[in-house]
Amino acid sequence: MRVLSGVQPSGNLHIGNYFGAIRQFLKLQEEHECYFFLADLHSLTTVKDATRLRSLVMDLATAYLAFGLDPSRSVVYRQSDIPEVPELTWYLSTVTSMGLMQRCHSYKDKVGQGIVPSLGLFSYPALMAADILIVNSDLVPVGKDQKQHLEVTRDIALSFHSVYSKEVFKLPKPVIMGDVAVVPGLDGRKMGKSYGNTIDIFGPEKPIRKRIMSIKTDSTPVEEPKPTEDNHLYQLMRLFAPADEKDWVEKAFKEGGTGYGEIKKRLFEYFLATFGEARRRYDELSQDQAYVDDVLAKGAIKAREAVAPLMDDVRRTVGMR
Ligand code: TRP
Repeated sequence: MRVLSGVQPSGNLHIGNYFGAIRQFLKLQEEHECYFFLADLHSLTTVKDATRLRSLVMDLATAYLAFGLDPSRSVVYRQSDIPEVPELTWYLSTVTSMGLMQRCHSYKDKVGQGIVPSLGLFSYPALMAADILIVNSDLVPVGKDQKQHLEVTRDIALSFHSVYSKEVFKLPKPVIMGDVAVVPGLDGRKMGKSYGNTIDIFGPEKPIRKRIMSIKTDSTPVEEPKPTEDNHLYQLMRLFAPADEKDWVEKAFKEGGTGYGEIKKRLFEYFLATFGEARRRYDELSQDQAYVDDVLAKGAIKAREAVAPLMDDVRRTVGMR
């Protein structure tokens, strides 16, 4: 199977990104032919600062590699290195009905969050459809919030087929991730950049420790048992605790005598145990950005080779050749 997925470089990588997406990428990489890219053209809808965008792209590429996405197995590339992607977006746009795009809730959600409405933000799903269709992907692992975009991708492909009476695209299937683990943020809502409740994975230890110590808790006294239902500190502990610590976690909450502060300190230890190696790799790779550049350059060559036959077919089909 051919798998494709992308992440927008638009902020620091947090533990929600890891449990919701990257952990699944690592598993899929074992069994499938994978394309993992950095959706920097999509980031332009929100990041309007070239220097910042460049550094977000490098940070995300560095993180991909630090976690173990393996460029000798998977194609790791930057979206903007593939000029065929915006080209295909245009062809797709001309067969996409306004009604279909108007039904997409992500546009309304983003405008509701205060993102400036632009034509690019509105047509975001058409660019995403091009990302997906251009590599003939079978499976697209995405979070629940992106499920509608996958449906739209299939609709756009079908519309192209019906307009030109020719089947050029493979219809991809979504793999919905995140059911495995909904990661709560510091305040108990789903961890997300827009809520400002994230815990970063990379960067200096001190601020991360501070974030963890600031997880919101109730006022149960130290000596009393702590509630486990709807307790996001409990959920985070269960997510992170290694097998031989599970008992400690259960006792700490259910027996009383352990304060929230002590539990959070333990959580910070689990955090370091889980991400220590990736953090070390990240620091190493940060010192060797030429290597990361090289990975992206080679990934771009492979990706462009892979998309060439399909693009040739598409151009002929629409009359551009
Ligand atoms: N829209 C996705 C997100 O915000 C990122 C993305 C862009 C993507 N193109 C894609 C994901 C293609 C999967 C496939 O998470």
